Amino acid sequence: MKKIIAVASFTAVLLASCTPKASTATAPAAATSTAEQIAQGKTIFENSCGRCHKLPDPTSHTSVDWVGIMNRMAPKAKLTDEQHQWVYDYIVSVKK
Ligand code: HEC
Repeated sequence: MKKIIAVASFTAVLLASCTPKASTATAPAAATSTAEQIAQGKTIFENSCGRCHKLPDPTSHTSVDWVGIMNRMAPKAKLTDEQHQWVYDYIVSVKK
């Protein structure tokens, strides 16, 4: 789990410097969520994260806070490790 978050944070740094489309073409495959994965993260977020409370606003917490929030909420929403990462990557992509 820790490793996934480290990868997610690294991805956030990558995404800050290139558009998601450009990163699919040029970045190393291992550490990058593609634009499609981020789009999936958005869908999962909208479908799973508004069930118990209002859909949270990605901009209302720092990306560091979101790591801890997602560690608490992903099991509640029964996300897989992959879905956890995509939702996190979607959230930080909204904040840019
Ligand atoms: C099974 C119910 C449930 C689901 C599904 C759920 N949450 Fe929550 N969420 C809670 C509860 C209960 C709290 C308040 C207690 C707490 O903070 O742990 C909460 C609190 C929060 C908070 C406020 C935390 C804070 O520190 O202010 C955020 C943000 C949040 N959830 C985001 C999410 C996201 C993102 C998802 C989707 C991955 C999600 N939640 C899915 C039950 C849920």
